[in-house]
Amino acid sequence: MSQSNKVFFFDTTLRDGEQSPGCTMHHDEKLRMAHTIADLGVDLLEAGFPIASDGDFHSVQSIAKAVKGPRITALARCKHEDIEAAAKAVAPAEKSRIHTFLSTSDLHLAAKLRITREQAIDQIAAMVALAKTYCEDIEFSPEDATRTDPDFLLKVCEVAIQAGATTLNLPDTVGYCLPSDYAEMFRNVLAKVPGIESVVLSAHCHDDLGLAVANSIAAIQAGVRQVECSVNGIGERAGNAALEEIAAILMVRKDKLDYTNSIVMEKLFPASQELSRYISFGAAPNKAIVGANAFAHASGIHQHGVLANPLTYEILTPASVGYHGQHIVLGKHSGKHAIQHRLKELGHDLNKEQIAAFYERFTNLADRKKDIYDQDILALLKPEAVAAN
Ligand code: KIV
Ligand code: ZN
Repeated sequence: MSQSNKVFFFDTTLRDGEQSPGCTMHHDEKLRMAHTIADLGVDLLEAGFPIASDGDFHSVQSIAKAVKGPRITALARCKHEDIEAAAKAVAPAEKSRIHTFLSTSDLHLAAKLRITREQAIDQIAAMVALAKTYCEDIEFSPEDATRTDPDFLLKVCEVAIQAGATTLNLPDTVGYCLPSDYAEMFRNVLAKVPGIESVVLSAHCHDDLGLAVANSIAAIQAGVRQVECSVNGIGERAGNAALEEIAAILMVRKDKLDYTNSIVMEKLFPASQELSRYISFGAAPNKAIVGANAFAHASGIHQHGVLANPLTYEILTPASVGYHGQHIVLGKHSGKHAIQHRLKELGHDLNKEQIAAFYERFTNLADRKKDIYDQDILALLKPEAVAAN
């Protein structure tokens, strides 16, 4: 594996993300989102699953033609028809990749694929080799890697590398792993698989236990140099690791995580907002980095602190991730400092007595009304206070 300390971002918003409920996008929306994701600075963009439908094929092909910057990737099962469709769809791209996968856990082999381990090995060898005839850059994923017998996983990795895989992605398909388990799996593979130094290792985490981002970071610390993630963390079930969270962790905790990456941080918030317009839900308000409350301060103590020095309660500036909105939220928990500050922003510099009187009227209203807007504040100003300005 490369010794570089660059972490490659592989965005799967338009594949794993789009295949989850409420996230279907029209062709034009996918294309616009693909340009936005490319502008975010991701290294790889998984544009879809071409065999899934004519629409998906068409979207992947259009993205491959139009979107410059990231390597354009398409997903394929370990089947001839999938690989051929993926190869055709990504062919127009300046840089392309075929991402092929096959389940390797005994549970999936028996219940889903109804094949033996030996048959799985043969299929992986044959299909990775087939993909290689179309494209130099091949990613192989043993689906359900984290519930795969560890010794069998080593064999699977070895066979995939021998057949031509250039990236090995070991997904935590069902979001089952603890960070320590996930890191241990990668360390084992790095130590024992022949030829592993010539491929890039990749993490792909689902959030069923809320650990997708923690697991991705643990994987990086164990030697992984590609992380698969999505804008707002959309993806199957509870979602994938959130791109913006991984990027923010690498930025804020550079003291412990000395890696580089090419994400353009100020584009994170606008990208999240744009995705929310195309799909049927936005980021949860309390979601890290891009949620509406991620930089909001409602309590008087916090507001006072942040107005004195934002570092008291903010570990990264809202502007650094492209958020430029209001972050002092006025309500019944607010104190006089915050109210005076907002009144000043609205053009009303009240003296001490005026603030005291205003504060009383404000708290009376805030006890009755959940959300206080600027219009409410202006309406609360007495004529004499307005006249004083
Ligand atoms: O979660 C998963 O295992 C996947 C594979 C197709 C990589 O999405
Ligand atoms: Zn997945």
